[in-house]
Amino acid sequence: MRVLVTGGAGYIGSVVAAQLVAAGHDVVVLDDLSTGFADAVPPGATFVKGTLRDCAAEVLADGVEAVLHFAAKSLVGESVANPAKYWSGNLGSTVALLEAMREIGIRTIVFSSTAAVYGEPEHTPITETAPTRPTSPYGASKIAVDATLTEFSRLYGFGAVSLRYFNVAGAHRSAQGTWLGERHDPETHLIPNVLAGVTEGRRVQIFGDDYPTPDGTCLRDYIHVTDLADAHLRALGACRPGQHRIYNLGNGTGFSVREVIEVCREVTGADIPADVGPRRAGDPAVLVASSERIQSELGWRAARDLRAMAADAWSFTQARTPR
Ligand SMILES: NC(=O)c1ccc[n+]([C@@H]2O[C@H](COP(=O)([O-])OP(=O)(O)OC[C@H]3O[C@@H](n4cnc5c(N)ncnc54)[C@H](O)[C@@H]3O)[C@@H](O)[C@H]2O)c1
Repeated sequence: MRVLVTGGAGYIGSVVAAQLVAAGHDVVVLDDLSTGFADAVPPGATFVKGTLRDCAAEVLADGVEAVLHFAAKSLVGESVANPAKYWSGNLGSTVALLEAMREIGIRTIVFSSTAAVYGEPEHTPITETAPTRPTSPYGASKIAVDATLTEFSRLYGFGAVSLRYFNVAGAHRSAQGTWLGERHDPETHLIPNVLAGVTEGRRVQIFGDDYPTPDGTCLRDYIHVTDLADAHLRALGACRPGQHRIYNLGNGTGFSVREVIEVCREVTGADIPADVGPRRAGDPAVLVASSERIQSELGWRAARDLRAMAADAWSFTQARTPR
C-alpha cells in the first residue's frame, strides 16, 4: 500500500516509516525538518521536505491510500508559553491535511495522540473512557484533533485510529543496522536525559521524592518505540470506514524515576549521581495506561521491557557520541 508518513523524519515517525518499508509498503515521508532530520528517513522511502499546509495535497494526490500522521509540535512548556503555535501547528495543520484527504478521497488515517489529553487522572491505570482534561495547550490541541477525527469519520466516512501514547522510549535498529532514536532539542524525556548525563558527565536531577509512591519519586509508563511501531501497523489494518477508534498505548506498568535511573546505571555501568530537588508544578504522582483495549481488539502486546528501552537508547547514544 502507498502510505504517507507525516513527520517521518522525527523520532517515532522515522521508526514507523522504517517498519512500513520493511513490511513492503510504498512509503512517502512529508516533513518540514522543523524538529526532524533528513538522515532519519529510512532508505527505500521517498522524502518530500515541506509543511503539511503547503505540500500535503500534492503528495496525497500521487497515489497515496492511507496516512500515518506524526507531524506535530510536542513541547508542553512551549505550548503554555506560545499556545497559538500549537493551535495552528497541531490543529490547523491537521485540518488542512484532513481536508486535502477528503477532497482526494483518502479516508484512512492513524493519528499520534497522547496521554497528555487526560491531564491529572482520577484513577490509574488510565482507560480510554477516562475524562479528558488536558492541562496544556499541547494536550488540548491533540484532543481537538481527536474530536475532529470523530466528526470526519461520522460525516465523511473516514476510518481513523488515534493512538494515545504514554512515554515513548528506546531506539530502533533498522534493517541496515543503523540506530534511530531520540534527538529532541530541548530533550524533555527522562531516559535520553539520564544517558546524556553519562556522556556529558552531568548529574541527574530528580524533581521531588515525597510523592505517595513506593520510593517517593513519580511513576510513569514507558513503551519501547519498536513496540509502538508494531501498534501502528496493526492500527493501519484496523481502520474501518465510518469508525474512529481510540487506543491507549503503554506498558500497563509504572516505573519510578529512581528505578529508571537504576536501570540506566545497569546498562551503562556508570555511577550516575543524582540530586533531589523540589517537585515540578503539574507533575502527577502516577501516570500509567491501561492497554487492555488494544490488547483485546488488535492483539497488541508490549514485547520489550524497561531494560531493553534503556539498553537500546544507550546503543543509539553511543553510536552518535564521537570517540
Ligand atoms: N515522544 C513521545 O514520547 C510522544 C508521546 C506522546 C505523543 N507523541 C506524539 O508523537 C508524534 C511524534 O513525536 P516525536 O517524539 O517523534 O516528535 P519529533 O519532533 O521527533 O517528530 C515530529 C516530526 O514532525 C515534523 N513536523 C512538525 N510539524 C510539521 C509540519 N507542520 N509539517 C511537516 N512536518 C512537521 C518535525 O520536523 C519532526 O520531524 C507527535 O505528534 C507527538 O505529539 C510523542
